[in-house]
Amino acid sequence: MYSKIIGTGSYLPGKVLTNYDLEKIVDTSHDWIFTRSGIVERHIAAEGELASDLAEQASRRAIEAAGISVEDIDLVIVATTTPDQIFPSTACILQDKLGIKQGAAFDVQAVCSGFVYALNTADLFIRGGQARNALVVGTEVLSRLLNWEDRTTCVLFGDGAGAVVLQASETPGILSAKLHADGHHRGMLQATGHIGKGAVQGDPFIKMDGQAVFKFAVKVLSEVVEEVLAENQLQGSDIDWLVPHQANIRIMEATAKKLGLSMDNVVVTVAHHGNTSAASIPLALDTAVRDGRIRPGQHVLLEAVGGGFTWGAILLRW
Ligand code: ACO
Repeated sequence: MYSKIIGTGSYLPGKVLTNYDLEKIVDTSHDWIFTRSGIVERHIAAEGELASDLAEQASRRAIEAAGISVEDIDLVIVATTTPDQIFPSTACILQDKLGIKQGAAFDVQAVCSGFVYALNTADLFIRGGQARNALVVGTEVLSRLLNWEDRTTCVLFGDGAGAVVLQASETPGILSAKLHADGHHRGMLQATGHIGKGAVQGDPFIKMDGQAVFKFAVKVLSEVVEEVLAENQLQGSDIDWLVPHQANIRIMEATAKKLGLSMDNVVVTVAHHGNTSAASIPLALDTAVRDGRIRPGQHVLLEAVGGGFTWGAILLRW
């Protein structure tokens, strides 16, 4: 038994914040942001718009594209770093909003690698016979964790959601997946705030050592894509589409170069989405599926790295 993605969907909140808008908020410039990251604009959730709201819209589109109904879904996994509330999980809230009554629902927290972690988990549930139709979602309102006076972080992130329906299949589908983590590096990228005494204690905002993250990301992504290709006796040139986590165009270029892939084979949405953390891969995937770039039979490689540190890659035959 294998698993196969049979539908994708995504959703971006209505408000667009451009680099030129940011110039009015912090000491930055469009040129600095664009040259360093490839970002032009990002979407920002409205006040009161929650991770589960974005997830609901993306999920409805994925379920429609899959041609199934909510009664068929027997597993909901939500990857998010910005859950609606402490508990219950955003997956349970989403399950209720969609009217799903059966199966398991839980969140996965692996920051920007969250979608890769969640998809791998859903694949194992399906291959183990415990689920047939899994809804796997990445959703973030990361703007809530940004200090709008800190130009080193607030220019990089955005809000959004992406979803896929993963179904049991006699043919692959997901060919292999590799996940890694090394908590020793957790200080490079973190939001240390926590709840205590009825309020947020510590710093609720994202703090990042950008240069250290950059070097680490390039190194581990190169390693993990090689690992997943070697397991399938494939080479970079066999990949039709690389769909990377959309953190920074320069990190994506470095991974593509390592694989010997042209940027024409890389799905890039960072210019218009910014870094949407766990949502970035399913958002990019949905874009390339809907515009007809990703087609049946092609090899698609997903990769991500994020806080933790966590990283991973998944190879699929579409
Ligand atoms: N606008 C203008 N100037 C800025 C800004 C800004 N928004 N932010 C920092 N600067 C200044 C710095 O203060 C510094 O000034 P100084 O030389 O006077 O001290 C100068 O620009 C250079 O700063 P660096 O940090 O050296 O810039 P760098 O070229 O490394 O680019 C960046 C910074 C874009 C963060 C880069 O390191 C990067 O992309 N790192 C990866 C981070 C990332 O992708 N994080 C996403 C989360 S993790 C993930 O998803 C994988």
